[in-house]
Amino acid sequence: MASLKIVLYLGVYLSFRITAMAENNVPKAENVHWTSLDFKTTLTWTNKPYKYRYSVRYTWDERDWHDCPDCTLISATECDLTACLNASDRTYMADIQTESLDNNLDTDDLPHTFSPTFNLYKESNISTVKFTVKRKDDSRVTVNITDTLTGIHQNGKQLTIRDVLKKDLEYKIIYYKSGSTGKRDMTSHLSVVDVPNLDAGLSYCFMVAAYISSRPPASQHGTWSQQQCTKEESHVHDLKIGTWVGVVFSLAAVIVIIVTVVVLCCRTQNKTIQTSQSSQPI
Ligand SMILES: *[C@@H]1O[C@H](CO)[C@@H](O)[C@H](O)[C@H]1NC(C)=O
Ligand SMILES: *[C@@H]1O[C@H](CO)[C@@H](O)[C@H](O)[C@H]1NC(C)=O
Repeated sequence: MASLKIVLYLGVYLSFRITAMAENNVPKAENVHWTSLDFKTTLTWTNKPYKYRYSVRYTWDERDWHDCPDCTLISATECDLTACLNASDRTYMADIQTESLDNNLDTDDLPHTFSPTFNLYKESNISTVKFTVKRKDDSRVTVNITDTLTGIHQNGKQLTIRDVLKKDLEYKIIYYKSGSTGKRDMTSHLSVVDVPNLDAGLSYCFMVAAYISSRPPASQHGTWSQQQCTKEESHVHDLKIGTWVGVVFSLAAVIVIIVTVVVLCCRTQNKTIQTSQSSQPI
C-alpha cells in the first residue's frame, strides 16, 4: 500500500515537473541587439520560436507602444524595422513578445524581452561613399562625392544620407601626394569639393568618409573609402620624355665628337711621321 502511495506521489510530482519544464521552454527572445547601416535598421535576437511566434512593439517615450506590421507574429529571429522607425533624433526601445499560436492558452504569462535603447539618427553606421577626382586647374582637384542612398523611402523616393542628416552631414577628405606619407585633410558640407593648394602636375590621392560632428565620437565617422588618385599631368610626362631624348642625343653627340677628334689626331700624326721620314736626306 505504502509503495503504491509513493508511486502515486511520484507520478503527480513528475507531471508537475513536466508542466513546469514546458513553461520554461517557451522561447524568450535573448541577446537582443540593433544593427543599422545607412538607416536600414534591423533588430535581431536568438532562440527559435518552436510552436510560438514573436511580435515586436516599439516606443520612443516609454508610454505609447506601437506595432510594426512586418514584425508581428513572425517565426524569424530578426526583423527589419526601417519602415516603422523615424530617422529623427529620438531614442527607441523595442519589446519582443513571445506569442502562442494556440488560442486556448493563457497568453498573459508569456515572456517578453526589452531591447537596448537605440537612436538611429545618432547611431546608424554610414557605409563608404562613392566619389570621383578630377584636376580642375594647376593647383586644385575637384572631389565629386555621391550622397549614399539610405534604406528609407518617403513618398516613393529613396532618401539619401543628405536628405536624412541635412546640415549635420559633412565629408572628411584625406589627401596626399602619390608615394608620399605626408597627409593633409579637410572637411566640407558640400558633395562637390575643390581641394586647393596642390602642386601642379603631380599625382594626388584622396580618401573620403561621411563625417557627422554632432554625433558621439564612436559613430561620427562613416567607413573610409578606398583611395582614388589623379593622373600625373601628361605634358609633364612629355617633358620628362623630352629630357631623356635630349640626354641620349647629347651623349651621342659627345661620342661622335670624341671619335672624330681621335681619328683626325691619328691622321695628322701619321702625316707628320711620313713627312719627317720623307724629309730625311737619302
Ligand atoms: C556599427 O559598426 C560597428 C563596427 O562594425 C559595429 O560594431 C556596430 O555594432 C555597428 N552599429 C550598428 C548600430 O549597426
Ligand atoms: C558629379 O558627379 C555626378 C554624377 O556622379 C554628375 O552628375 C555631376 O555633374 C558631377 N558634378 C561635377 C561638378 O563634376
